[in-house]
Amino acid sequence: MLTQEIINLGEPYFQSENCLIYNLDCLESMLKMPSECINLTVTSPPYNIGKEYENILPLSDYLKWCEKWIQQIYKLTVNDGSFWLNLGYLSIPNSAKAIPISYLLWDKIPFYLIQEIVWNYGAGVAAKNFFSPRNEKFLWYVKNQENYTFNLDEIRDKNVKYPNQKKNGKIKVNPLGKNPTDVWQIPKVTSGKDRSSQERTSHPAQFPLTVIDRIIKASSHPNDLILDPFLGSGTTAIAALNLNRKFIGFEIRQDYCDLAVNRINNFCQNETIKKSQLSLF
Ligand SMILES: C[S@@+](CC[C@H](N)C(=O)[O-])C[C@H]1O[C@@H](n2cnc3c(N)ncnc32)[C@H](O)[C@@H]1O
Repeated sequence: MLTQEIINLGEPYFQSENCLIYNLDCLESMLKMPSECINLTVTSPPYNIGKEYENILPLSDYLKWCEKWIQQIYKLTVNDGSFWLNLGYLSIPNSAKAIPISYLLWDKIPFYLIQEIVWNYGAGVAAKNFFSPRNEKFLWYVKNQENYTFNLDEIRDKNVKYPNQKKNGKIKVNPLGKNPTDVWQIPKVTSGKDRSSQERTSHPAQFPLTVIDRIIKASSHPNDLILDPFLGSGTTAIAALNLNRKFIGFEIRQDYCDLAVNRINNFCQNETIKKSQLSLF
């Protein structure tokens, strides 16, 4: 049971056995939380590019704000914990049409960077004066470079081209599959008539569940506590609960909290139905 007392933030917007959602500013909230209580954080912050949930800040203020909430995530993370940060691009007048936000934050992050994952997706805007953008990055950080979780066998890619290839008479390929590499080709959550993803909500920047599922399997264990400080439509919550992890999330907008809570309630109802069907056999 995940209790509010441990988290120290008062009444949540939503609570279930393994999940706490707060309709609060994440920075103010994380400042009040105890150190070293989170195993894994997976998140995507606002990119300061004018989405419906953003007030554009001067670049230096935006970067200072990012530094502050990242420092709080560092404080909250247990010694063998991880931080997965999804970042895209922003433009800087007279300097860059689309600079990776990770370049701007590079020296402001106290974690140890293990790897940058390229998330390559098929659909997107068709550019005319430059290459059509088809990627974002997931940066995988850990607190302790000597001691962190990587459950490779949980996330192996079953799609092996030559499964029976042998070396010295022995099958060479791991029967569980191959390492999925640092380039992940996973479709974006799409909208639009006849092409809308099944998991689509009305949130304008929704993560695909498949990506978050892989991250949580790789970087945490059952019963671990997962955090998403920029919860949006609640994708990280659904993936965490589905993998028997505990979850805490912050979202500043009440309408997005409602989206997330609806998704979580639907997920819990489906789980109850599945369990009752299984108990019939
Ligand atoms: C990129 S979206 C996250 C989308 C999410 N990954 C999903 O799958 O739906 C960022 C979210 O952070 C929220 N947000 C912005 N500033 C915040 C703050 N200070 N505290 C908490 N949430 C905030 C926005 O309202 C927005 O929903």
